[in-house]
Amino acid sequence: MSVPMLRALGLLAVFLTGAAARLQERSMNSTCNAIAEAISPASHVWYPLSFHYAKDIEHWAASSTDLAACSVEPGTAEDVGTILQILAASQTPFAVKGGGHATNPGFSSTPGVQIAMYRFSEVSYDAASQTVDVGAGLVWDDVYAALEPLGVNVVGGRVTGVGVAGFSLGGGYSWLTNERGLTVDNIVSYQLVLPNGTVTTVDENVPDLFFALKGGYNNFGIVTKFTLKAYPQGQVWGGLITYTADQLDKVNNATFVFSNTVTDPKAQIITTYNFLLGEPGVSQLLFYNAPTPPAGIFDDFLAIPHFTEDVSTRSFTSLVQSSPSNATAGTRAVFNTVSLLSYDEEVIKAVLNETIFWGARLSLATATFISYDVEPFMTTLFTKAPASSSAYPPSRARGLLPLNIYYAWLLPSSDELMRDAAVASAQQLTDVAIAQGQDIADAALYGNYAIDGTPLERLYGDNLDQLQATKQKYDPQNVMGLAGGWKL
Ligand SMILES: Cc1cc2nc3c(=O)[nH]c(=O)nc-3n(C[C@H](O)[C@H](O)[C@H](O)COP(=O)(O)OP(=O)(O)OC[C@H]3O[C@@H](n4cnc5c(N)ncnc54)[C@H](O)[C@@H]3O)c2cc1C
Ligand SMILES: *[C@@H]1O[C@H](CO)[C@@H](O)[C@H](O)[C@H]1NC(C)=O
Ligand SMILES: *[C@@H]1O[C@H](CO)[C@@H](O)[C@H](O)[C@H]1NC(C)=O
Ligand SMILES: *[C@@H]1O[C@H](CO)[C@@H](O)[C@H](O)[C@H]1NC(C)=O
Ligand SMILES: *[C@@H]1O[C@H](CO)[C@@H](O)[C@H](O)[C@H]1NC(C)=O
Ligand SMILES: *[C@@H]1O[C@H](CO)[C@@H](O)[C@H](O)[C@H]1NC(C)=O
Repeated sequence: MSVPMLRALGLLAVFLTGAAARLQERSMNSTCNAIAEAISPASHVWYPLSFHYAKDIEHWAASSTDLAACSVEPGTAEDVGTILQILAASQTPFAVKGGGHATNPGFSSTPGVQIAMYRFSEVSYDAASQTVDVGAGLVWDDVYAALEPLGVNVVGGRVTGVGVAGFSLGGGYSWLTNERGLTVDNIVSYQLVLPNGTVTTVDENVPDLFFALKGGYNNFGIVTKFTLKAYPQGQVWGGLITYTADQLDKVNNATFVFSNTVTDPKAQIITTYNFLLGEPGVSQLLFYNAPTPPAGIFDDFLAIPHFTEDVSTRSFTSLVQSSPSNATAGTRAVFNTVSLLSYDEEVIKAVLNETIFWGARLSLATATFISYDVEPFMTTLFTKAPASSSAYPPSRARGLLPLNIYYAWLLPSSDELMRDAAVASAQQLTDVAIAQGQDIADAALYGNYAIDGTPLERLYGDNLDQLQATKQKYDPQNVMGLAGGWKL
């Protein structure tokens, strides 16, 4: 072929690709229009440039936001059913967003139809059954604030802004987990819109779905309401202390001692190693589920010279909002995770080494924040529910303590570098723990922390076959496959 001919063919290809994209855009928009016509006045479709559209597609991590053709805010479960039927018939890609805190791109965002659940915002406490109905569009802050005057609480998120829905559909590690288990251990019922549009209630009378929703994310339809167990809740003690580089040996030791000696389930910490402005440091969250902690538990942390301190007796909401997690909202992000049997000395040292190693390297490449959350729950954390009661964790035979790697940066051109580093660092920490005798090569990973691409076997273990069968039963057309996420 001659050069001019090749050039002409190239131009034609570019033209056709552009035309195909425009056609696809037009067909997505006609899906949006069809939804707008079919839904009740309780719901609304929004198009680009409107304030609501911007809010609907927004995510905590900028790298999780996509430009949808339109967004829809359903206001009733029946409308969610109507929307799913239209999306299925037109095979339009879509996404379901609760609090929008997913760090994996495309898990709750889409170039197609963005469903934003904000209008499901009910919080209603039923004293007789000691349960709370919680709308799937809320963030935990709203739930806690509504329950506080009633003196009750639910097992939910630990820091500000996190959504009820994705958190609860994945597992849910809470400040109350040592006492009450994961959030999935405390759900008594779901209102679920099945992939075929039927609105249904899922509780212990529908055992396969009840099991599958406890860790199965958006594979079985769209949840509109969670009914959670309620517990009495008074004031708590805790908050944030920060330490500079020169104190980190002491922080390491205090974290090690806490993790391996404290047996009071009301006590909990998150030790976040971070790298900021060329130096490692620690953001330390302390929690005790009573107005005053017994002497001894937190003394080491309080005695270390600190940079800032905001620790007090306070409301649960105030405690949750004392964390610094908002500071990096709106930057690009990756999470990854390791599941440990214990936080031994060598593992903690390795976490600090990773912080410094990757902090120094990645900060040259637009990284703004490198961090490792050490989360030393008690190893009894999975014993608060029966052995085979949930999709996640796949085994409750032993406790697994999650470690969360979180990097934040600004430029899309650094995405690959950051993601590769998060994978390498998780592997390094896994290797260190294994060398210390921890049998974690196949330990289940937490889907709300794991990087996309992690094999489903690592999330669901031996439960995977059963979950896939349940998926086939309730979604034979794979409607939910049009949405991103951990796909069965
Ligand atoms: C700052 C921060 C702090 C965190 N702290 C904790 C913590 O303490 N403990 C913990 O366990 N995890 C924590 N996480 C992880 C958190 O659990 C996940 O990010 C979780 O997915 C957030 O839920 P969301 O509703 O905000 O997410 P979204 O991004 O809205 O959704 C996440 C996934 O759930 C699906 N989904 C959402 N709503 C529905 C619905 N109604 N029906 C069906 N599927 C739905 C989405 O499609 C998507 O696949 C934290 C994350 C961040 C960013
Ligand atoms: C999509 O449809 C809406 C409502 O009919 C219209 O206002 C908008 O211009 C359309 N957008 C595109 C890209 O066609
Ligand atoms: C670690 O902390 C414990 C408890 O406070 C203390 O007894 C021990 O001496 C500390 N070890 C180091 C190396 O600082
Ligand atoms: C966190 O940021 C969100 C969005 O900007 C804001 O609405 C919220 O009040 C902030 N929370 C805290 C505790 O600062
Ligand atoms: C520190 O981390 C790097 C990167 O994972 C690793 O290559 C190195 O061996 C570690 N050093 C120590 C002393 O553990
Ligand atoms: C929708 O799916 C459920 C569960 O598979 C089934 O019981 C129900 O009959 C279906 N409804 C319709 C209208 O097909």
